[in-house]
Amino acid sequence: MSPNVKNRTLFTGDNLDIMRGINSDSVDLIYLDPPFNSNRNYEAPIGSEAAGAAFKDSWTLSDVDLAWHGLIAEKEPALASIIEAAGLAHGKGMQAYLTMMAVRLLELRRILKPAGSLYLHCDTTANAYLRMLCDAVFGIANFRSEIAWKRHNARSTEKRWPRVHDTILFVSKSDRFRFAPTKVPGDITKIPHTLIAGPDGRKYQTYELTGPGTTASGESGRPWRGYDPTAMGRHWANSHARMDEWDLAGLIHWPKKKTGSRGGFPRRRASEPFAPEARKVTVGDVWTDIDRINQTAKERLGYPTQKPLALLERIIKASSNEGDVVLDPFCGCATALVAAETLNRQWIGIDLSSLAVKLVLSRLQKAADEGALFDGGRLPEIHHRTDVPKRADVGKLPPYKTHRHTLYGKQEGHCAGCGHRFPFRNLTVDHIVPKSKGGTDHLGNLQLLCGACNSMKGTIDQAAFVAKLKAQGLR
Ligand SMILES: C[S@@+](CC[C@H](N)C(=O)[O-])C[C@H]1O[C@@H](n2cnc3c(N)ncnc32)[C@H](O)[C@@H]1O
Repeated sequence: MSPNVKNRTLFTGDNLDIMRGINSDSVDLIYLDPPFNSNRNYEAPIGSEAAGAAFKDSWTLSDVDLAWHGLIAEKEPALASIIEAAGLAHGKGMQAYLTMMAVRLLELRRILKPAGSLYLHCDTTANAYLRMLCDAVFGIANFRSEIAWKRHNARSTEKRWPRVHDTILFVSKSDRFRFAPTKVPGDITKIPHTLIAGPDGRKYQTYELTGPGTTASGESGRPWRGYDPTAMGRHWANSHARMDEWDLAGLIHWPKKKTGSRGGFPRRRASEPFAPEARKVTVGDVWTDIDRINQTAKERLGYPTQKPLALLERIIKASSNEGDVVLDPFCGCATALVAAETLNRQWIGIDLSSLAVKLVLSRLQKAADEGALFDGGRLPEIHHRTDVPKRADVGKLPPYKTHRHTLYGKQEGHCAGCGHRFPFRNLTVDHIVPKSKGGTDHLGNLQLLCGACNSMKGTIDQAAFVAKLKAQGLR
């Protein structure tokens, strides 16, 4: 499904409302760097480019839509149990924070394409609970990696190991996701232990010919030239014919003595001698090579919690193609959007703060002026919106009032507000998420209210409505 939002759109507003208006299955890659539940409030320093930017990162149950908690309990029992357990183990603040995150993760899953991926940036405050939310929303089979990004140097800390890393959880919507492993130059001071002397006396890299685990049938489990991988609990990772070819070309290293040990197995030899400067290594799930934005970094804007461009570039390159749509629903000063632009991806950003739009414009303009982006240095049109987009993928729904009978049965004749029982004619259909905030006419977004509750709710959201009912002792 194509997105119903133009490339280079930046929304100012609550991402939950805005995401509700984005088509299902329309985004290729999502990076989110939400508040971490750090129990702090962040502010950009006066005098920095980002001065004025601030956001709150402490949570109480009054902050979150209590009704969402109810809806999660009804529709997503696994999620509800995790949130409940976190509340018991960690406290109400964590429960509120996870409720806020859970409703957004459900919405993000909906708008992600079937082959899409999501990276959730967090830290040890809530990473264990967020991992569980991801398991419940995306399915355990779609959990891919937990990346540790080393962002600080250790300073001595009392009673625990100094905390030096952030966590980035990587999940996909299905097993059709895109992933290109990242290679970086290896450490030239480290000489691999797998080098051997070649026929010309120079050093050559060697590689294993087997992989871990045995195979039940086929030649990958059968002996080759007298070497039996199955006996070693392994299998040939290449066909016998391929290994014969390599041997003919002199590219198999034969151990001096045939032993039962893995070290005594033949290995493939590189065709070129080992050159430390040309050596590339695959990046694993511990990232120590990307510096945080320090006080003197050129890209520093002073925006609280700004992330380095190199971090976002790595994620975007590994998990999307040119032309793909990247969404950052907590975009801050738009690091992910600038990285997406640099790498020829389309992008959509959302942030509550109206300062984010000013920063992204000035960041992109600066990059254009420096010739780093956009041929000819002309800044393309950036769309700034504050409204909720209208979904183009819901088709024609039946008039919402036709659901009255179903809802009456579902609610067993009770008003969803005060809970009293009413005759059918006294209950009217209400949108749980108001239409003005992106709510649709789907049955799941409808409830029956009595006349008094309906006028009390008006166009306020469910949380405020429930709070009002409670304040008046009606619930
Ligand atoms: C940790 S910062 C993101 C920093 C960003 N990755 C960068 O490099 O600049 C979190 C951002 O989320 C925004 N935010 C918090 N709650 C939000 C919500 N409900 N909807 C949209 N944005 C929100 C805050 O204004 C803040 O800019």
